Amino acid sequence: MSLQGKKILLGISAGIAAYKIPLLVRLLKKEGAEVQVLMTQNACQFVSDLTLATLSEKSVLSEIFPKSSQVSPTSWTCHVALGEWADLYVIAPATANTLAKLASGLCDDMLTATFLTMPATKPRLIFPSMDREMYRSRSVQRNMLQLVEDGCKIIEPESGELASGLIGEGRMPEPENIMASIHSEFQNMLQIDRLKNKRILITAGATREKIDDVRFVSNYSSGKMGFALAGEAAKHGAEVVLISGKTYLETPGGVKRIDIESAEEMFEEAKLYFEWSDVFISAAAVADYRPEKKIDGKFKKTTDSFELQMVKNPDILAHFGEQKKRNQIAIGFALESSDHLKHAQEKLIKKNLDVVVLNSPNIDGAGFEVDTNIVTILSKEGDIQEYPLMSKRDIATLILKKSSCFFDKD
Ligand code: PMT
Repeated sequence: MSLQGKKILLGISAGIAAYKIPLLVRLLKKEGAEVQVLMTQNACQFVSDLTLATLSEKSVLSEIFPKSSQVSPTSWTCHVALGEWADLYVIAPATANTLAKLASGLCDDMLTATFLTMPATKPRLIFPSMDREMYRSRSVQRNMLQLVEDGCKIIEPESGELASGLIGEGRMPEPENIMASIHSEFQNMLQIDRLKNKRILITAGATREKIDDVRFVSNYSSGKMGFALAGEAAKHGAEVVLISGKTYLETPGGVKRIDIESAEEMFEEAKLYFEWSDVFISAAAVADYRPEKKIDGKFKKTTDSFELQMVKNPDILAHFGEQKKRNQIAIGFALESSDHLKHAQEKLIKKNLDVVVLNSPNIDGAGFEVDTNIVTILSKEGDIQEYPLMSKRDIATLILKKSSCFFDKD
């Protein structure tokens, strides 16, 4: 795929790897992209703005307030225009300082201010690069996590010899590898753009089934998988309704969120939106059973044991898949701890689904609570694709890409 006509903002902060960026600019220009370089003041210590301006054929911007009195009175607002103009924002290298500013919304130069003016629907690729211990520090890790939650894609640095002489992770990928990430981002956009204006209903998180006024039966689902799906779908122009169990996650931009507690409440809300939807994705960990009768008040500890009678909850996904589905694409998850593939295939058929995403609660880095997952995606056509450990955001992109294939056939 060529980058002809693509508009790319290239933010450079003050890491030694900045010396490789002129090559990246050349590669981008050779493929026909328009490149606007935004550079922190300190980055100019590592690479010359004249070199970058010459290669990009555009003035390099650093300060929000231009120094020259010759400039037009509106040039200080060009960060706003640039956010609108760009198709993609690449920040390479991203130093610890720049990551901290981006994560907390500070905007005291062109690189950071323009970052805030980019609509949340546009992709942002960030290439952290710094020394090993800085990269491992809790603050850097925390800031990266925040940026991922804000919808950015962080490309992990490579491991190798660092400027300090230490060996470890922290090296910015070579310009050719950065180009590969840019290509793959545009490829994803092209595919997922078919979801633009499509209506997507997603369930996420755990339901709580009340025992009494202060206790409930639930599970470990954090909502991260469902929220990642909602955020990515909205980013690509879909209309998204997210029905969520209790979670402390922030609602992704552009998403309509409905909070519920129990499976029955989730079911009632989902009924209101299923017909409206083009795609239904059931990422919630819905409790299969609930206490038959909620005890009023706080249950007193008067006996050594007590029995709790449980009754079956509605299977929300099965109800829609088996009884209500018309043109909708129905995507379910299968959380399996044994006979994984067999059970996932059974769910695909029995619940009349188009796609099942199989994951497991007993593999490190997969399932509940973590930011990553390991999935196998099964489709009704019989494909089975296994994927390695990936961020939940990247898995969300995969799932959405998969669902957008069904629209190709329209
Ligand atoms: O929220 P996180 O911490 O990020 O964790 C993500 C996850 C592990 C919860 C998610 O990836 C996942 O696997 N969600 C489905 C969990 C589950 O309940 O799986 P299941 O195999 O029991 O159910 C199969 C499918 O039926 C699921 O799509 C489920 O949403 C749906 N279901 C199940 C029971 C029920 N009563 N109603 C349903 O709709």
